[in-house]
Amino acid sequence: MPRGLFITLEGLDGSGKTTQIKRLAAWLGKRGIQPVVTRQPGGTTIGDRIREILLDSRSTGLAPMTEMALMFGDRAQAIAEVIQPALDAGKIVVCDRFTDSTEAYQGGGRELGSAIVLELHRVLCGDLHPDLTILLLPSFDASLARARHRNTRVEQQTGKNEDRFEQEQDAFHRRVWEKYREIAVREPDRVVLIEGDLTIDEIHEQIIEAVAERILLAEIARASVVSSSAT
Ligand code: TYD
Repeated sequence: MPRGLFITLEGLDGSGKTTQIKRLAAWLGKRGIQPVVTRQPGGTTIGDRIREILLDSRSTGLAPMTEMALMFGDRAQAIAEVIQPALDAGKIVVCDRFTDSTEAYQGGGRELGSAIVLELHRVLCGDLHPDLTILLLPSFDASLARARHRNTRVEQQTGKNEDRFEQEQDAFHRRVWEKYREIAVREPDRVVLIEGDLTIDEIHEQIIEAVAERILLAEIARASVVSSSAT
């Protein structure tokens, strides 16, 4: 069975990832493809428990190294339980955040640096890399304002307090932003950067263009494996 396709979405809080993931899943569904959609932190029973610790603003005093270790604990569980089995079954996996988030937030935001994140990824995540990463970077001010507003609303509606990261200072989010751009420049083949304040429809169009191209490339690769094994 050929490996499926691993797609991740990345961006600052409030960049519109969640909306775009729903639209992408619907677009794939209309074409008879049912993707496995998951998110980090969370997405497994153990991961949801780790998520609570990580995002609750009452988790005061969490050391940056602990925070990073918990992110990787969550991720290792999600890979073992959800992502790798789905890829092995030839499915398309769409994941809301992955190791680029750890590099941007803990490596950049918390200033732990990229090297340690990439090394932990290699050791703890079997060096599993996305085939395609969509990075949404609308203007910094707009996404920060949206994230802060959204978390107030979520808390009012669900009683869940998930704004530990949004409460960080603007300087923290600036560092996250800069690290994301650095990743995009470093890995242009994997990362498709969608910048600026575009409409939801415009962003969706760019996402499906990138996804359709990868699906096509994967199909070509599969066909060439089949034809070379037949000769
Ligand atoms: P979430 O509510 O899922 O936010 P969003 O909808 O913006 O993705 O919260 C996830 C938060 O966790 C977000 O602020 C980014 C942060 N995070 C990290 O700091 N490191 C990581 O490795 C991951 C996966 C997330």
